[in-house]
Amino acid sequence: MEKAAAKARIEELSALLKENSRRYYVDNAPTMSDYEFDTLMHELEALEAEWPEFRAADSPTQRVGSDLQKGFVQRPHRYPMLSLANTYSISEVEEFAARAEKTLETGFSYCCELKFDGTAICLTYRNGKLYRALTRGDGVRGDDVTANARRITNLPQTLHGDYPQEFEIRGEVLMPFEAFDALNRERIDAEEAPFANPRNAASGSLKLLDGDEVARRGLVCTLYHIPAQSGLDFASHDEALKAAASWGLPVSEERRLVHSIGGIKEYIDYWDSHRRLLPYATDGIVIKINEMEYQRTLGYTAKVPRWAVAYKFKAEQALTPILSIDYQVGRTGAVTPVANLQPVYLSGTVVKRATLVNADQMEALDIHEGDWVYVEKGGEIIPKITAVEPSKRKAGATRPPFPELCPDCGTLLVREEDEAKWFCPNGDGCPMQIKGRLLHFMGRKAMNILAGDATVDQFYNLGLARTPADLYDLTLSQLLSLEGWKEKSARRFKASLDASRDVPFDRVLFALGIRFVGETTAREIAEHFGSIEAVAAASREELLAVPDVGEVIADSILTWFSDDRHRIEIERLRADGLRFAMGVRAAGLSNALEGKTIVVSGVFSISRDAIKELITRHGGKNSGSVSGKTSFLLAGENPGPEKIKKCEELGVPVLGEQQFRELLPETEADHAPAQASLFDDEPTLF
Ligand code: IVH
Repeated sequence: MEKAAAKARIEELSALLKENSRRYYVDNAPTMSDYEFDTLMHELEALEAEWPEFRAADSPTQRVGSDLQKGFVQRPHRYPMLSLANTYSISEVEEFAARAEKTLETGFSYCCELKFDGTAICLTYRNGKLYRALTRGDGVRGDDVTANARRITNLPQTLHGDYPQEFEIRGEVLMPFEAFDALNRERIDAEEAPFANPRNAASGSLKLLDGDEVARRGLVCTLYHIPAQSGLDFASHDEALKAAASWGLPVSEERRLVHSIGGIKEYIDYWDSHRRLLPYATDGIVIKINEMEYQRTLGYTAKVPRWAVAYKFKAEQALTPILSIDYQVGRTGAVTPVANLQPVYLSGTVVKRATLVNADQMEALDIHEGDWVYVEKGGEIIPKITAVEPSKRKAGATRPPFPELCPDCGTLLVREEDEAKWFCPNGDGCPMQIKGRLLHFMGRKAMNILAGDATVDQFYNLGLARTPADLYDLTLSQLLSLEGWKEKSARRFKASLDASRDVPFDRVLFALGIRFVGETTAREIAEHFGSIEAVAAASREELLAVPDVGEVIADSILTWFSDDRHRIEIERLRADGLRFAMGVRAAGLSNALEGKTIVVSGVFSISRDAIKELITRHGGKNSGSVSGKTSFLLAGENPGPEKIKKCEELGVPVLGEQQFRELLPETEADHAPAQASLFDDEPTLF
């Protein structure tokens, strides 16, 4: 490459990488895949090696990405928090091992570990107590997230055993897939943008200002590094981690000591296929020289240790053509483009549809009609299109125009200045929005009324229901006169409407579908104000006083209650017997599980929430993790392997769903909140 071209490309790559680093670390919303990012970084490294005169002091190759954020106190790291050299190529791992063997001669080992895909954390323990937790920040200073780290369930506040008076230990904060899926489902219900992956969800959650919400999000931590400079006298990395485990700290247990490149490759091969069984995300393997003495010999570059390398797995991808694009109108009128794909097998499931998020994302991906696209699923519940394969583009293909009119009702779409999405403003007349609101109201986490898409279509098309209150006016004979309805289905539907009268106020508030008021926010507002009258009468300032309610949510609530039609609807629902004030929760069914602490894992004949509710209504307590206090693990299909392993270690009994139901009084055992659909038409987007 010519000198001028090299200079221009170095500048271009630096700008691109800096921008994406900010999106990754600060916004928790990367727009580039890890693989693309790493490939561009490697290109920049190679160019700078060839043209060192063009390497800027602040080049992304010279510093770690920064997660520093406003609103947190920043503190210096005692020892810089570095990154790891990474590669996607086995031959580069071989080169790393060959270099080590040449420099170190004999008598050393490699410690192979999982590369956890979360957000890095640096903990200080002082006198056996968790004293401080810092994020990586820019590697030199980190954000102080101590209060939030204290809410991470598996992180001990107090150590035991023979721990040093003060030391630092580093690791990764992770959001397990199960917690991630639950969080994203809530966010989608509340029409909030879902997190792209568990890593973004973990780092976003660690930076929340509300500790209770942090605790609720189910973060876990795994620790993998005690800085050698800390003066602790360990002969090897493995011994340091063993000691940390003996003080009660969660260290990565999957690590293995091996003595040759052959051992490294075996470890890589094993985890390349088995990592899918882990309950959290990993994106590769880290290979570390185990002996501290040899780590010192090899030392550090400005950015990474020379004694370690990360081998990264490529995210599983599938390449498939777009058959067509649908523009879906949500209950708030937001229009989401969704690609219909030629069905393709990916990480255990067949993917037929993938979100294109919004018009900006379609433009950023440069989507053309009929393009072949790469689809990834790495832990996400909604498959994502990460890139287009330009070599497969048909000559003359054009960009699909984003519709100007609502695909459902034909109204001109609008886009507010700070909105990423186009909206159909015809909230009252747009069938998709009306049906979307009904479906949201009836949803499992809202009023749990047994009906899905097809039933709502039927009610809407026959003019039987436009608002939730209309549902309560439907009579048995009306239902029986409808096509496809039988006595049994009509009675079950009416019974689920009856049961919805016991749904607590916080879920009723969520069911109303006020924009941005998700399940958690609804619970906080309900608990704070106690009744719908108090919420309706609250001023902006009073609403802002609720934790987690910011200006956008407060304004949305004010707008919702300022609409007289909404107030009339509330009065109708009140007359139907719904709960509009906090009060006693659903009545208990028995004391059969009193004193029992139960961990639930896997898939059951009813939803997991319903199982948990059954436990509490029979006097038991739910817990998220297996410990010595667990009475038993209630395991459905495919329970978490880690949980089963822990039960084996601690001798905790494991019960199946049938055995569990046998513990409950016979007549009550099928009082579980109903979940199965009347028909097989539960709403499913993907
Ligand atoms: S060791 C001085 N071990 O990956 C080296 N890092 O891409 C300290 N990571 O910044 C890091 N799993 O946040 C180490 N087993 C592991 C890891 C690991 C994940 C993260 C860490 C690091 C990043 C580099």
